[in-house]
Amino acid sequence: MAETMTGARALRSAGDPAVEVATGDGPASAAGRAGRPFDPVALRADFPILSTLSHGRPLIYLDSAATSQKPLTVIDAVDRWNRVQNANPHRGIYELAESATNAYEEARARAAAFIGAPDARELVFVRNATEAINLVAYAWGRQSIGRGDVIVLTEMEHHANLVPWQILVQEADADLEFIPFDDEGRLRLDVLDVLLRLKPKLVAFTHVSNTLGTINPVREMTEMAHAAGALVLIDGAQAVPHLPVDVAEIGCDFYAFSGHKMLAPMGSGGLWARRELLEAMPPFLAGGDMIREVHLRRSSWNDVPWKFEAGTPDAAAAVGLAAAVDYLAALGMDAVRAHERDLTAYALETLRREIPGIAIYGPDADHRGGVVAFNLPDVHPHDVAQVLDRHAVAIRAGHHCTMPLHERLDLSATVRASFSVYSTRADVDVLVEGLHDVMRIFGPGA
Ligand SMILES: Cc1ncc(COP(=O)(O)O)c(C=O)c1O
Repeated sequence: MAETMTGARALRSAGDPAVEVATGDGPASAAGRAGRPFDPVALRADFPILSTLSHGRPLIYLDSAATSQKPLTVIDAVDRWNRVQNANPHRGIYELAESATNAYEEARARAAAFIGAPDARELVFVRNATEAINLVAYAWGRQSIGRGDVIVLTEMEHHANLVPWQILVQEADADLEFIPFDDEGRLRLDVLDVLLRLKPKLVAFTHVSNTLGTINPVREMTEMAHAAGALVLIDGAQAVPHLPVDVAEIGCDFYAFSGHKMLAPMGSGGLWARRELLEAMPPFLAGGDMIREVHLRRSSWNDVPWKFEAGTPDAAAAVGLAAAVDYLAALGMDAVRAHERDLTAYALETLRREIPGIAIYGPDADHRGGVVAFNLPDVHPHDVAQVLDRHAVAIRAGHHCTMPLHERLDLSATVRASFSVYSTRADVDVLVEGLHDVMRIFGPGA
């Protein structure tokens, strides 16, 4: 074991298989690799932070569900914006301002195409998935939800797709109902079926759970909700970075995602919604750029999506998001998913084999994104994370913004390893090496 682990320290691991990748036209290194096997070890060179040290050892970054690391093409796109492109979009008519507007709108078109949006004007730029969901809860929710109305959520939601709805139903004197999950971490669609008899106005659920990793059957759930007359909002924060996503194919009404979890800068993200819904919704934030005309006592609104983009946008983050989309598209999202599925299967198998008594939450690798939440027998998750930090393993311990999910499992916290395109079997091996150390220090009989 020790020998394997020493070898695993080297960033190149013979154990990391290559996965066939689709062709694509992304820039720089990703494009250079298009058509060649997807090689997570080789593409690590695109991510400067992965060559840094933590406590004098190579960083093992296993917290990509919290935020992903950024490739050079994204870093360069933001740098280029600030060096030679910066001007306020949609405002000036001088050449630099027009090219800034074009870059910003081109970024919208690329991000919209990446998630299968039929029309780029259906994609509102927001700071993150949280803002996207709050936008819907305020703009659509306050217009559409009244006394006694029902909104159906699930017991596995991130707080971002729970708290905005709690606030809304408290204000509107409406109700929340919840789809539970079973012991494998799969949503109980039979219970959804029953809840739909309440004729909810909205069914809102995560595409991929950030704690259990469960990939929910979003298309089937959308069809069920629509058949009962409900609209559907999907929280795609953990899906867009890891799976092919096509909102038109899913058939949902609202889809939210964060750029920073998909290799893009913090401050970038999107809300996709069907155009007629966006057009019928009142504004969320008010001020500059979201208006058509302003008089002292009344105003009228800009067209969508700009009606929902008040104030100066984070345009550098938007062009960074476009660069991230290009990077992922060049890898091919089917290949990204195949790589992360393979790595998750390896992690599940290795952890179960190497760490006696480990409790792992959530379904098998076929039904799970690149997220593995677990607990060690009799060791507090924070102690696990602290010892792993000494091994330069960056991992999350806590409730991961899913307190109700942890309550349902009768847990106060879990340890979570999460993967992205650059994660490797070698990373998992170092994690396991660190967990042996945790067990030596804290485990039964220690
Ligand atoms: C499933 C899910 N939804 C929403 C969010 C919120 O994302 P952000 O903090 O980028 O708004 C997260 C973040 O971890 C998440 O995992």
